[in-house]
Amino acid sequence: MSSTYGRFPGARPRRLRTTPAMRRMVAETRLHPADLILPAFVREGISEPVPIGSMPGVVQHTRDTLRKAAVDAVSAGVSGIMLFGVPEEAKKDAAGTVGTDPDGILQVALRDVRSEVGDDLVIMSDLCLDEFTDHGHCGVLTPDGRVDNDATLERYAEMARVQADAGAHTVAPSGMMDGQVRVIREALDGAGHADVSILAYTAKYASAFYGPFREAVGSSLQGDRKTYQQDGANARESLRELALDLEEGADMVMVKPAMPYLDILRDVAESVDVPVAAYQISGEYAMIEAAAEKGWIDRDAAILEALTGIKRAGAQNILTYWATEVARRL
Ligand code: PBG
Repeated sequence: MSSTYGRFPGARPRRLRTTPAMRRMVAETRLHPADLILPAFVREGISEPVPIGSMPGVVQHTRDTLRKAAVDAVSAGVSGIMLFGVPEEAKKDAAGTVGTDPDGILQVALRDVRSEVGDDLVIMSDLCLDEFTDHGHCGVLTPDGRVDNDATLERYAEMARVQADAGAHTVAPSGMMDGQVRVIREALDGAGHADVSILAYTAKYASAFYGPFREAVGSSLQGDRKTYQQDGANARESLRELALDLEEGADMVMVKPAMPYLDILRDVAESVDVPVAAYQISGEYAMIEAAAEKGWIDRDAAILEALTGIKRAGAQNILTYWATEVARRL
């Protein structure tokens, strides 16, 4: 392996760091706009976009500004958009009914974006109930207040059908219910949507870094998600979730959050033959923006470094709220 000059003073690794051109040439990891997927929020009943305080630069879109964000993403070379719907507060109920209403905000937004950009973006929808339930959980509850796995699966099957009908190319189940990928695949196939793909949130950890997302979707979660999202202490468990999702028919798999779980991302990437995505979540975004605002960190460099690390760890695609900005910069 090592050459005659394998040791100092012959060996000087700094030779390959001497100029920007040299560093560019030998870079092992390159971010490309097509790696990136933009998560976007659309809120019902507003006429101006509403800024999300804990995510400076991110807004709850109106239907119109969402269309524009999709067009901007296309022109920047971003590959996909992941849509989250924020319904009017009064429309939330225990079953998350508006999540399966063909005229619910998420379905309306899917149709809007599909008609605006067609197939120029991969249009994805978060498939979960938490944006639509009044209790903020990702599923329906049993009478004693626990999240009912199997009853929730029926809701997810219905959601998959309405989202695909509305124009989603890809549905992304994020609720961590057991068996969700299987029932969604069957529901899609049964409804004539065999070509609609599933990006499974495969390893999804219960995380404090989702904090700003609650503001983004106006959710007031009662309790926590620890009975369905994974415990951050566990790594092997993700390989089990992975095996199940693949067996159930996942076309692509995701690890989430990204930065505190890069080891999981590496484990998953090394053991699959399907595309692997990672989600740089709201709290990861907020940390960098907040530190930069205080002048404690070089914002642009930190963003690129974080994204490069996620790709280096094994992500082929990265969901990031900076997608359009970064794609333009690359
Ligand atoms: C569930 C969902 C969440 C996120 C994406 N899909 C919230 C959660 O699981 O608690 C979080 C994304 C982020 O924090 O940026 N609908």
